[in-house]
Amino acid sequence: MSVSRLAQHLKGSEIIKIAGEINELKKQGQQIANLTIGDFDASLFPIPEQLTFGIKDAYDQHQTNYPPADGILPLRESVSAFMNKEFGLKLNTNEILISSGSRPIIYATYLALIDPGDTVLFPAPSWNNNHYCDLTSAKGIAVPTKPENNFMPTAEDLRPHIAGATLLALCSPLNPTGTMFGKQNLEEICDLVLEENRTRKAGEKPLYILYDQIYAMLTFGDHQHVDPVSLRPEIKDYVIYIDGASKCFAATGVRVGWGFGPEYVIDKMRSIVGHMGAWAPKPEQVAMAKFLQDADNVSKYLSNFKSRIQDSLNTLYQGFQELKAEGFAVDSIEPMGAIYLTLKLDYAGKITPDGKVLQNSADINFYLIKEAKVALVPFSAFGTGHEVNWFRASVGACDAEEIAAMIPRVKAALAKLK
Ligand SMILES: Cc1ncc(COP(=O)(O)O)c(C=O)c1O
Repeated sequence: MSVSRLAQHLKGSEIIKIAGEINELKKQGQQIANLTIGDFDASLFPIPEQLTFGIKDAYDQHQTNYPPADGILPLRESVSAFMNKEFGLKLNTNEILISSGSRPIIYATYLALIDPGDTVLFPAPSWNNNHYCDLTSAKGIAVPTKPENNFMPTAEDLRPHIAGATLLALCSPLNPTGTMFGKQNLEEICDLVLEENRTRKAGEKPLYILYDQIYAMLTFGDHQHVDPVSLRPEIKDYVIYIDGASKCFAATGVRVGWGFGPEYVIDKMRSIVGHMGAWAPKPEQVAMAKFLQDADNVSKYLSNFKSRIQDSLNTLYQGFQELKAEGFAVDSIEPMGAIYLTLKLDYAGKITPDGKVLQNSADINFYLIKEAKVALVPFSAFGTGHEVNWFRASVGACDAEEIAAMIPRVKAALAKLK
């Protein structure tokens, strides 16, 4: 049966294949430390209880009809106040758009800015930009990044590709690496964008930045989130921010996201989200509007949540540093933000006890699943080549104890390789 060219060419997710393998082993009764999903185990990390009460309360008050297309005004007011308090960003309510999680805002940004064939630049590894390019017939350019830059793109990496591009999709803290932009790095990228836009003629589309800061509230230690407009106020007309409640309140199933940017772009995005019907459910909007104003409970929740996530990430980071010190061909990059850790397992070309050669990162991963009962996601699922032996570990569904227990299993599995 024929379907559209778009539907025919959509790529499946590599993560789903890994999930299939894990489920197969679980069916056989095996326990796997599942570090693959960018989500939370809700029994370990429930949403804030005030948010739960607020949602139930909103249903009891029959807040169950259509919300306005850009989100209820009290929520846009709360988001404006929250962004001002947390990041010093000054937003009018008509520069803010609410949707059912942040994904529709990302898609609406692409749809509002991209014509077929337009160039979109994004770093590799990064999350899902290749799919949004496919959905909008964009010419996606995945710009490789380097471990010595913590896999964050630099102005120098981007410069050769910037002429004539329409969108630069950035994310910090970054999924899949858990690393972040430093101030100077992002300033240099903003300057590059401003410089490029000065060359564009009147009536030509400028180069926009999609700035995904969905993990911005989850930063650790001295690492501070930076954003384009705070660093370079003159870039405001060109930046669309992606943000929301999914990650910072472990509320991935609650489906409240927000985005903000120049009013004329947000205005178009509102129509797109409206036609898709991708509003956040109204009771959740009502409850989120209230919860974001509850500064005490927001900060109590975040400090506990962050310290537990950081604990898990540090346990894994240290475990891999110890393996490295013992001579294993592994590495890890210091956790900075989000719920992810970047791990290196440089074992391509090695031979398993049953005589199989591990050809690439996918083979290494499946070996670890079977032998160490630990599942990671190779960076190839985020747009790098299969030869890149770096992996994402996500700690939202495991606690620090479970993570500590898996290190000796990884060690034993790696020791068996020749
Ligand atoms: C970088 C990034 N942006 C956006 C999202 C989407 O979040 P939501 O669940 O709010 O749609 C995710 C989810 O994994 C993400 O990792």
